[in-house]
Amino acid sequence: MDCNMITQLLKKFPSIANTVLEPAADHIEEYKKLLESKGFGSDVDFNWRQQTWDEYYKECKQVNQIKKFHFISAIHSLYYVEDLESTILDLINCLEEGGVLLMIAVSDDSGFWRLWKRFPMFADDLYRQINSGDIRRILDTHQIGYKAITQESRVDITCCYEDGNQDGVLLTDFLNHVVNLRECSSQSFVDEVLSYMRGEDCTVQNGDQLLFNNDWQAIIVTN
Ligand SMILES: C[S@@+](CC[C@H](N)C(=O)[O-])C[C@H]1O[C@@H](n2cnc3c(N)ncnc32)[C@H](O)[C@@H]1O
Repeated sequence: MDCNMITQLLKKFPSIANTVLEPAADHIEEYKKLLESKGFGSDVDFNWRQQTWDEYYKECKQVNQIKKFHFISAIHSLYYVEDLESTILDLINCLEEGGVLLMIAVSDDSGFWRLWKRFPMFADDLYRQINSGDIRRILDTHQIGYKAITQESRVDITCCYEDGNQDGVLLTDFLNHVVNLRECSSQSFVDEVLSYMRGEDCTVQNGDQLLFNNDWQAIIVTN
């Protein structure tokens, strides 16, 4: 996503200063590897920061230097912030005048959201189950204007129901945001999760395929 956005931005701007906030070292390495193949060269000046949003913003406040940006994206990452409301307001505070904030989260009408709501025990202190409706409500409360765009998306989860299919094991974990569901839970609980995943709240059947509803929403605020 980030690489694609840079490619698009470079069509419009000759050079970009890009601050990358990412707490996971291996994700930074993966991203750096991907960038090598893109050949952006000196057109993009990267500022790598291996830290969370909360760590970054606290640091900025401590030295009383809130850096302003023309464009900020938080794509499927707001699940991990300590406080959604204050984070959204702080992100807007980091926008230059006329700057744009892009936030993406699962739609409040998606199978993803219904699955998470059905199994709230998968959330923890580091990961909160939020949806695009939560973001919109916060913006409405603060009378901040925005544009919301829903993107339809389906994930073929047929492999989750094939015995011994390793992709299915990983996909089940990914959709539920857990590690080793099958190894760490009782068989009856795993069956309950798998049954709910393929049920009509989350999935439609299309011939032999089971298509999980992964609709997401982009919410765009212009300062
Ligand atoms: C679902 S991934 C999305 C990655 C990327 N935005 C994309 O669309 O491909 C969520 C990312 O947020 C990172 N993350 C987790 N906690 C975070 C935090 N508190 N602040 C910023 N990023 C965080 C994760 O390490 C992970 O790389």
